[in-house]
Amino acid sequence: MKNSPFIYGTTVSTFSFTNREKETDKLKSNLLNGINTTIISPRRWGKSSLVEKVIFDINKKDKKSKTIIIDLFSLSCEEAFLENFAKEVIKASSSKWQEWIINGQEFLKKLTPKLSLGIDPTHDFSLSFDWNELSKNGEEILNLPEIIAQKKNIKFIICLDEFQHLASFNNYQTLEKKFRAIWQRQKYVTYCLYGSKRHMMTDIFNNPSKPFYRFGDIMLLQKIETSKWISFICKGFEDTGKMIDKETAALIPLTMKNHSWYVQQFAHYVWNLTKTKATTTEITVALQELINANSPLYQKEVEIISQTQLNLLKAVIKEETQFTSIKTMQKYALGTPHNVSKNKKILINNDVIHEINNVYECVDPAFELWFKMQFFNEKII
Ligand SMILES: Nc1ncnc2c1ncn2[C@@H]1O[C@H](COP(=O)(O)OP(=O)(O)OP(=O)(O)O)[C@@H](O)[C@H]1O
Ligand SMILES: [Mg+2]
Repeated sequence: MKNSPFIYGTTVSTFSFTNREKETDKLKSNLLNGINTTIISPRRWGKSSLVEKVIFDINKKDKKSKTIIIDLFSLSCEEAFLENFAKEVIKASSSKWQEWIINGQEFLKKLTPKLSLGIDPTHDFSLSFDWNELSKNGEEILNLPEIIAQKKNIKFIICLDEFQHLASFNNYQTLEKKFRAIWQRQKYVTYCLYGSKRHMMTDIFNNPSKPFYRFGDIMLLQKIETSKWISFICKGFEDTGKMIDKETAALIPLTMKNHSWYVQQFAHYVWNLTKTKATTTEITVALQELINANSPLYQKEVEIISQTQLNLLKAVIKEETQFTSIKTMQKYALGTPHNVSKNKKILINNDVIHEINNVYECVDPAFELWFKMQFFNEKII
């Protein structure tokens, strides 16, 4: 049996990547032309996949640009970040591991890196510093890519995923100022910063009182259009010897409001159930399976919110717009206007709801379907 053409749970950058032509061109052009870029979108719409795809394309064509992707999520403090940053910069600076050692020693003056190589140096290269020294001379690491680039006549493109995670570091406010000041001056290094907590990312980059305000171009990633999803789904079936007509395929993005992750997950479930041609029966069964598979997670999500927050969520899902009108507050038992405003903030900060074109909606379309079944007894398809 062929493998599923639909992938979720990991980034897609080549196989199973679709559309995003305009965004790919724009990001590629920004990064190759030295324009620092921030990408903001709600969770799982495809930021990391887009960056990976662009970096993949750049690596294929442009040997002068050295690219790095660092996921900040697993790093817990400034020192860990700097150590990782230095290691990746040194690794990207040359394709020969012998040069990594020379570069590490030549370009770091105040810091002494401890380098070690395993049997297979390309996969087993580690670099560490004395963390006391590191916190005193962090600037040297932040300047490292610029200095190497100047000397070797190359450029660096540095992509930092889950960038908002920096805000959890102890000395974040000082760091934020330091990073911005150093990065802004660099001529040979371009940064791409993106992350999944939309409200935090927006606050870091769109708040005039914060250092990263106007750091570079901000790309607000949109959803992939329905027509593109339909062709993608039909082709995925066809390529693997199965069939689905356009009308049936259209139900997948429609039900999942074009949400990248869920369109792929739903398409995968339908594909899996289909022997030869998908019908609405496979669609219904697959949707039920998808909701069942995710329901423990959704259950947990509602367990941690308070009763008035849950009530506000009901009002959002019922597409109410005037949350502080007396009628709505009474109908859903929302408490006072102060409660509404506080709860709205909490639901936004927890990524449960967001504002899109002046309307509030659930961030997660499948959670919304589950919620409708659970709390309003609605039939969802
Ligand atoms: N261009 C694309 N074509 C097809 N599927 C995509 C595309 N982009 C994303 N996806 C689907 O969406 C899922 C989530 O993508 P990705 O991890 O890139 O999103 P993200 O915005 O970085 O998410 P997070 O906010 O959780 O970091 C992928 O696993 C894949 O199933
Ligand atoms: Mg991501």
